[in-house]
Amino acid sequence: MSFLAASIQRIKPSATIAVTDKARALKEAGRDVIGLGAGEPDFDTPDNIKEAAIKAIRAGKTKYTNVDGIPELKAAIARKFKRENGLDYKPSQISVGTGGKQVLFNALAATLDPGDEVVVPAPYWVSYYDIVMLAGAVPVVVQTRMEDGFKMTAKMLEKAITPKTKWLIFNSPSNPSGAAYSRAEVKAVTDVLVRHPHVWVLSDDMYEHLVYDDFVFTTPAQVEPSLYERTVTLNGVSKAYCMTGWRIGYAGAPEFLVKAMATLQSQSTTNPNTIAQWAAVEALNGPQDFIARNNAVFKERRDLIVGMLNQANGIACPKPEGAFYVYPSCAGAIGKKGPSGKTIKTDEDFVVELLEAEGVAVVQGSAFGLGPAFRISYATATSALEEAGRRIQRFCGNLR
Ligand SMILES: Cc1ncc(COP(=O)(O)O)c(C=O)c1O
Repeated sequence: MSFLAASIQRIKPSATIAVTDKARALKEAGRDVIGLGAGEPDFDTPDNIKEAAIKAIRAGKTKYTNVDGIPELKAAIARKFKRENGLDYKPSQISVGTGGKQVLFNALAATLDPGDEVVVPAPYWVSYYDIVMLAGAVPVVVQTRMEDGFKMTAKMLEKAITPKTKWLIFNSPSNPSGAAYSRAEVKAVTDVLVRHPHVWVLSDDMYEHLVYDDFVFTTPAQVEPSLYERTVTLNGVSKAYCMTGWRIGYAGAPEFLVKAMATLQSQSTTNPNTIAQWAAVEALNGPQDFIARNNAVFKERRDLIVGMLNQANGIACPKPEGAFYVYPSCAGAIGKKGPSGKTIKTDEDFVVELLEAEGVAVVQGSAFGLGPAFRISYATATSALEEAGRRIQRFCGNLR
């Protein structure tokens, strides 16, 4: 009998953190390691946002606030939803938390009972799976296919829905695949949901701004307004505003759910960091032009790494529409012998051999529910990315 609760034994630490730790240990031992595991931009938070935080401290904005966000931030978020998504959310329909992850956690914990089902398309962001498990609910994983650009089709969704389904978790652009659904592809998904009125959708729009080649982002409640009453539109400032450490995320949702989420938050963390909330006000209301500048760099890196991966033996990599990840298949490397003499049987074997032989840290696809593949985050200096591409090519060329 363990002293630990059954719920905590159902979940595991994030695999992305495990790889980052291993890479750090090798680095500390003096190895030259290129880390392509972390899910955060390498760009610094823009100065105007930092200044807003400093100003807030000087003005004494250092006390507790409303549990789920200061009115000024909720107003900025309401304007953002209107301006960028054509969505009307009143301040009472907006929830602000310590990162999008807490807001997601609150929404799921406030709604899931043991036995409820949640449809999670794979490859998925690991937290979806584990938060559902923690709640005692059942993740129903939908395997997408590389041929479909890792996007769930209407047919796949239809098959996964049962009378017990409570949520679909929808994430476009996706972590880990970078896949983003066009308006028509979003519509195909929402058309299925229209036919199943007991299913809600949690749309994780965290990578909304990180799209390339004239891709136009849309979100379910915008494409299918009849779903508005059963949609949570989740977003945050971490990725587009280079504010991962500030910990501010938010969602628009029906008022009764926002209230329940605030109750939960009031009994765990209370308000998100006051100073970070003021910084987020500036992020959403201030100049947005740096996003396009950052995106130009991200696009260049995506094209570079996709090109290099597709020239590596046994690797096939689709070119995704957004985020800062690529998700190559390593099926062609399975069954071959790595430099250590060990046969590569799984994508985990592949990433461990790659890290040990060439000092390149990536995350195995099986951690995201779809393999054999691996995730590369290209939010790293272009020169390091190019060197990593060369090392991956050499590694794959040496497999026997
Ligand atoms: C798909 C997705 N959603 C949500 C988040 C949460 O971001 P944060 O908690 O930093 O707002 C992340 C972060 O990695 C993510 O990749």
